[in-house]
Amino acid sequence: MDETTPLLQLEGINTYYGQIHILQDSNMVIREGELVCLLGGNASGKSTTLKTILGIVRPRTGTVSLNGEDVTRVPTAHRIKRGMAIVPENRRLFGPMTVRENLEMGAYLRPKADLREEFDRVYELFPLLYERRSQLAGTLSGGEQQMVAMGRALMSKPKLLLMDEPSMGLAPVLVERSFEIIKQVNDAGVAMLVVEQNANVSLSIADRGYVLSTGRIVLEGRAEDLLENEDLRKAYLGR
Ligand SMILES: Nc1ncnc2c1ncn2[C@@H]1O[C@H](COP(=O)(O)OP(=O)(O)O)[C@@H](O)[C@H]1O
Ligand SMILES: [Mg+2]
Repeated sequence: MDETTPLLQLEGINTYYGQIHILQDSNMVIREGELVCLLGGNASGKSTTLKTILGIVRPRTGTVSLNGEDVTRVPTAHRIKRGMAIVPENRRLFGPMTVRENLEMGAYLRPKADLREEFDRVYELFPLLYERRSQLAGTLSGGEQQMVAMGRALMSKPKLLLMDEPSMGLAPVLVERSFEIIKQVNDAGVAMLVVEQNANVSLSIADRGYVLSTGRIVLEGRAEDLLENEDLRKAYLGR
């Protein structure tokens, strides 16, 4: 891979649910190590974009490329093996299982022998998860559960981490903390695509952003420029 090949590229993506046309000519690029946010209101197609990237839904037309390789027809499990991971909406932890068991689930595609290194890496990033490794995940606070969900995704050693509305359901004080953690993971070298409705907080840590409106990318640019964009300010930033 040369330096100009993006880690992830969407080209001319059109995704449907049955007859309903959701994503309309989506084009997107994420480079190695970048932190990119995908903004948009309810039902604008944010989760569908993540599902299309992971192969949970297939676009009718267009291509998804990972490291320059067309993966549009590659099954989800293989995309995960090649370096994608997701922190899904509402985290979806296994509540009756311990923190450690939840983390282990994130590495189910990797040989067991490798896991020690993965656990060490995740516990180093989130020392609290080491302290709570034997606690049942369902008994953790929202912020702590967010850490488990991120830790679980990191167990597969992703190059690209997709996050669906990480601030959803978190108390306001935890939203900022959650984004600090996101930044920390990104600083450790993991490229990220973070889906958010909270434009202010996500743009404050992102390198770049895309804005979706009814399935169409209507705006894109550097985060600092988007923060100053008049239309975006009116629509999302409430100022
Ligand atoms: N499995 C599905 N079948 C039919 N329509 C769906 C399905 N999933 C999502 N949709 C519709 O697609 C649109 C985009 O949904 P989604 O990508 O989840 O939006 P967002 O994540 O931005 O809220 C919505 O109108 C939603 O109702
Ligand atoms: Mg969604």
